[in-house]
Amino acid sequence: MSELRDLLRRAERDLQRGPRGAEHSDPARLWRELVELRERAAHVDDDTRLLGAARQLAERASDVATGPPVPTETLAGTIAAAVLAPSMHNSQPWRFAVGTGRVEVRLDLQRRLPVADPDDVAARIACGAAVHNLRLAFPVRLGRAAEVALLPDPADPTLLAVVRPGAARPAAPREQALHAAIARRHSNRYPFRDDVPVEPTLHATLTDAARTRGCWLDLVVEPATRQLLGELVTDADRVLRADPAYEQELSGWIRRDAGATDGIPGGAAGPRPEPGDPLPGRDYGGAPRRPDRGFEPAPLVAVLGGPGEHPADQLAVGEALQAVLLAATDGGLVASLYSQVLEVPEARSRLRRMAGRLGSPYLVLRIGYPSRPTFATPRRPVAEVVDLR
Ligand SMILES: Cc1cc2nc3c(=O)[nH]c(=O)nc-3n(C[C@H](O)[C@H](O)[C@H](O)COP(=O)(O)O)c2cc1C
Repeated sequence: MSELRDLLRRAERDLQRGPRGAEHSDPARLWRELVELRERAAHVDDDTRLLGAARQLAERASDVATGPPVPTETLAGTIAAAVLAPSMHNSQPWRFAVGTGRVEVRLDLQRRLPVADPDDVAARIACGAAVHNLRLAFPVRLGRAAEVALLPDPADPTLLAVVRPGAARPAAPREQALHAAIARRHSNRYPFRDDVPVEPTLHATLTDAARTRGCWLDLVVEPATRQLLGELVTDADRVLRADPAYEQELSGWIRRDAGATDGIPGGAAGPRPEPGDPLPGRDYGGAPRRPDRGFEPAPLVAVLGGPGEHPADQLAVGEALQAVLLAATDGGLVASLYSQVLEVPEARSRLRRMAGRLGSPYLVLRIGYPSRPTFATPRRPVAEVVDLR
């Protein structure tokens, strides 16, 4: 019932703010509907028809409160930013439905990783990162705030988010800078420079960026803790690599042909992992490292966590991840991700104890200044991932 109350409250707030757009709707009629639904809600305890009517009302009230309608094709232009989000093995587990005044972000069940990500946790993190890109693309490209509803329909768990254009407003300079970083951000799996530590002022920038809806980023600066974390990821990696099904799934995402639009191409694979690496990378079929090109001995390592294990928490972690990565890119930094711990429950429990935090750790990051550039990993064309409604 709290969802019903929330919807009615939201509808009231939007009707009070409007009307700023959606000339075709009639706010007076929506007010009457609101009063009527309130009446009915006061007398019934649980009624799915009532809930459905409240959802529809909230949606129409939100149309009234927001600015003039954005043409579907213009709205679809924001998807180019969404698809640049990171995803495990570059699996791009998303679809976008773009219709009148809304972008739906959906989990694409055809692109699951059944072995590495049986519960779609990593997929939801990737989609959360795509939602974060939309939050920036709306003000920058459309001149409109992004109004985001996460998991808006409990009956449809693949509908991860609905993003609508809100009030007209110019993008803040910080939003413009972070939006510009979307296309420059790439995973960099190579050793980073070991002659310059990460600028201390950036530490706070990164931890602040992660702070959204209960997420956190712990920077690991103690050498002993860093070593412990490295051992933990190494153990998790060893467990995974002993599983032939994991190896088979992983190798299925390695791409050798130049026209590939997903997966990991040779140019992005990074060096082949070697025993003794302080943090083991995934083996994406990269070339062996030159003996004088070792990993930096004291990298800036970080653990990204969220408030819990609910799908909404995983979307929040995705948003926080992308916020951290864009802040890093804007500050001249690059990052490598290590999610092996997410896939090995025992390793994750150890990491949870180690983090000594409320909530759940999800990903390990290595952050630093690049010793060599990496290139954009391909994406499927926007037309392939968008359904125009
Ligand atoms: C949830 C999640 C887990 C990831 N885990 C790893 C990982 O364990 N190792 C790795 O090298 N990259 C990992 N990545 C990075 C992806 O491989 C990368 O984002 C993808 O290949 C697209 O490349 P890009 O980041 O350069 O755009 C992960 C990304 C996400 C979102």
